[in-house]
Amino acid sequence: MKIALIGYGKMGKAIEPIAIQRGHEIVLRSVSTVELDKTTIADADVAIEFTEPSSAKHHILTCFEAGTPVVVGTTGWYGDYDEIHRKQKETNSALLASTNFSLGVNLFFEINHRLAALMNQQDQYDMAITEIHHTEKLDAPSGTAISIAEGIIDSVDRKKEWTDSHSHGSRQIQIVSEREMNVPGTHRVTYDSAVDSISIEHVAHNRKGFALGSVIAAEFIQGKSGIYTMKDVLNLS
Ligand SMILES: NC(=O)c1ccc[n+]([C@@H]2O[C@H](COP(=O)([O-])OP(=O)(O)OC[C@H]3O[C@@H](n4cnc5c(N)ncnc54)[C@H](O)[C@@H]3O)[C@@H](O)[C@H]2O)c1
Repeated sequence: MKIALIGYGKMGKAIEPIAIQRGHEIVLRSVSTVELDKTTIADADVAIEFTEPSSAKHHILTCFEAGTPVVVGTTGWYGDYDEIHRKQKETNSALLASTNFSLGVNLFFEINHRLAALMNQQDQYDMAITEIHHTEKLDAPSGTAISIAEGIIDSVDRKKEWTDSHSHGSRQIQIVSEREMNVPGTHRVTYDSAVDSISIEHVAHNRKGFALGSVIAAEFIQGKSGIYTMKDVLNLS
């Protein structure tokens, strides 16, 4: 499979050896909009996009125009999701975006959902999410933390929204973001009552898990049209 890497930073560089090891060819490594070669993208079987929040929408639309399925790892652009969804329908193209491509985190999302369903009846517990990432991360809270919060809101009737402010109301889930050197990504959900606490945590040891998941997602989306998620890739739907 021919893969166009849109973004060749920490993630693009982690994806390259894994893609090659799995028998794929890297046909583009772009690090700026100027280097975004539309002809090469049209020629690729799949594009994998890991850049920055302000560029993601433009890259996704470029892939739609080129007719190339696109896997998007960049976070922090979801305010544009409705427009992207509309364009995907118009162009009948393929998109698989995930706030986190780690297979472990996607299993963690499922555990989070099931624990939240159990906690729906247990009003004595309040919950909070903590996410810890390296200091270069541009967006906060992390897209993964927001996905975790949405999973809880789906299942716990007493919670209606998330907040990243220091104080929070009873209908809100607090997300605390911490930035530390060299942390690839840690997410913890804690349920706290007056008598005990229950926590679940996912700790990424390095970026290889995100990179492998995005290549597996690229293999999945090749030749397809429509919008997919990691649930489809992992058969968790
Ligand atoms: N979904 C996931 O599993 C996952 C995992 C890790 C990181 N991320 C997200 O992926 C994004 C990238 O992370 P990273 O650690 O590789 O960041 P990085 O800063 O190391 O790399 C970003 C790269 O994008 C390039 N870039 C910026 N604008 C561009 C443009 N217009 N065209 C082409 N390239 C452009 C930069 O030159 C740089 O090489 C971030 O949003 C991060 O939060 C997601």
